[in-house]
Order: sequence, then C-alpha cells, then structure tokens
Amino acid sequence: MRKKFIAGNWKMNTTIDEAVALAKDVVKTMGNTSDVDIAICPPYTSLYAVSEVLKGSTVKLGAQDVHWEAKGAFTGKVSCAMLKSVGVTYVIIGHSEQRTYFHETNETVNKKVKATLAAGLLPIICVGETLEERKSGKMDAVIESHTVGAFAGISAEDALKCTIAYEPVWAIGTGETATPQQANEAHIFIRKLLVKLYGTSTAEQIRIQYGGSMKADNAKALLGQSDVDGGLIGGASLKASDFAGIVKPV
Ligand code: 13P
Repeated sequence: MRKKFIAGNWKMNTTIDEAVALAKDVVKTMGNTSDVDIAICPPYTSLYAVSEVLKGSTVKLGAQDVHWEAKGAFTGKVSCAMLKSVGVTYVIIGHSEQRTYFHETNETVNKKVKATLAAGLLPIICVGETLEERKSGKMDAVIESHTVGAFAGISAEDALKCTIAYEPVWAIGTGETATPQQANEAHIFIRKLLVKLYGTSTAEQIRIQYGGSMKADNAKALLGQSDVDGGLIGGASLKASDFAGIVKPV
C-alpha cells in the first residue's frame, strides 16, 4: 500500500516574508499529519527561512530544481550539497516549465536525478505530454522517453527513493484538469514502464503523483484512483486552506 504524498510547488512566488507566513499557516493546519506525506517547495531564496518554520513538524522541505555538478563556475546554479545544508529533503526535477523555458532534456534530468540520489536527497521526477503531443498520438512515446530517460542507470534500490509526478502540460495552470480516468490511465502506463525497468515488486512501491490544476474540489476523485498516489500542486498550494483542502480528502 503506497502512502499518499502531496507536495506544493510554489514556483516563482513568495518573498521571504510571504513564504514564512504561508509555511506557518501550512504547519498550523497540517503540521502533525502523519497518514499522508506532505512537502512544500518554496523558491531557493526562502528555503532556509521555511526550513526553520518546518522544524518539529511532519511537513518536509523541497526544492524546485538543482544542478548536477558539485561546485564550481556555474553562475546562477545551486548544488545538492547547498540544498542539503538548508534542510531540503525532496527535489523537483524535470518540471515541464524547466523543459519548455530552460532547455531541460531527458539527459539533464537524468544527471540531476543521479546527483540528487548520490547526495541522499529524494527526487520528484516530472513527466507529461503537451496538448499537441496528446492530440497527435505521441503521448505514450513522450511519457516513455521522459520516464526511461530519467531512470537510465538508476538501480532498483535508488528507484524506490524516487517519486514520479505525471503532469500533463495542458492541465498546468489552465484550470483544465485531466479526468480521474485520464490521469489513472497515464499512471498505469507509467507503472507498466517501471515494471519493465525494475519488475513488479519495485514498480508497485514507487509513488506517482498527479499534477495539473488539482484543487480541493477535484482532489478526492483523482486521489481515489488506483494508481494516483498523491499530487504535485501549483496554484492551490499558495494558500494553506486550499492546500489543506487537497490533503484532507486523502
Ligand atoms: P497547477 O496546480 O497550478 O496547475 O500547477 C501544477 C504544477 O505544475 C505543479 O508542479
């Protein structure tokens, strides 16, 4: 039985003051939750301040990206060791916004996954198709290339430390959600890929989150599906009461 995992991706929102206030609200409403894993992923600038707020609560800290190199002349980038030093547990890797705007490829995703695991951090690997890819029948091929690419050279033992977030690009920030059936079909497809890579027992243990306009009023139906093991929440994670509304139905 996979424990549900709900993570908030705050994207490029919140100053330090705003992040601390939001994190305090999250802790107040969900800080003792233990039947669901919860994480929040603020911008880099607020990670340290938010980690202080999360101390003593069950809510974990996540980052929105990482660079695969350990250190050096990589202006603007942040390493796994830096993330660890501010108390990060999870790292979102390969988000579609990174793929679309910042040249993220399956190869860079794979390098980031390897670096993250080597540092003892837990990757949340994003996969998912655009509307054009879905309409032109390329959806399965895209999801397969994202998934197989991300896990290249990753052992079964390490794969168990990963979460996959299925985020159909057409549902992100659009208010258009995949139906529970559409989401579950994609999750089952991803799990079959994991079975091919790692065998049934490992594949059955890896959590697959859904992401894309998930909110309180559609969370229950999505999370009720056999292979939807949680959510990666954008807009609805920016208000604690909205975020709690997603965590509650689990
Ligand atoms: P929204 O929930 O705003 O659609 O964003 C989803 C997402 O991209 C989470 O990573």
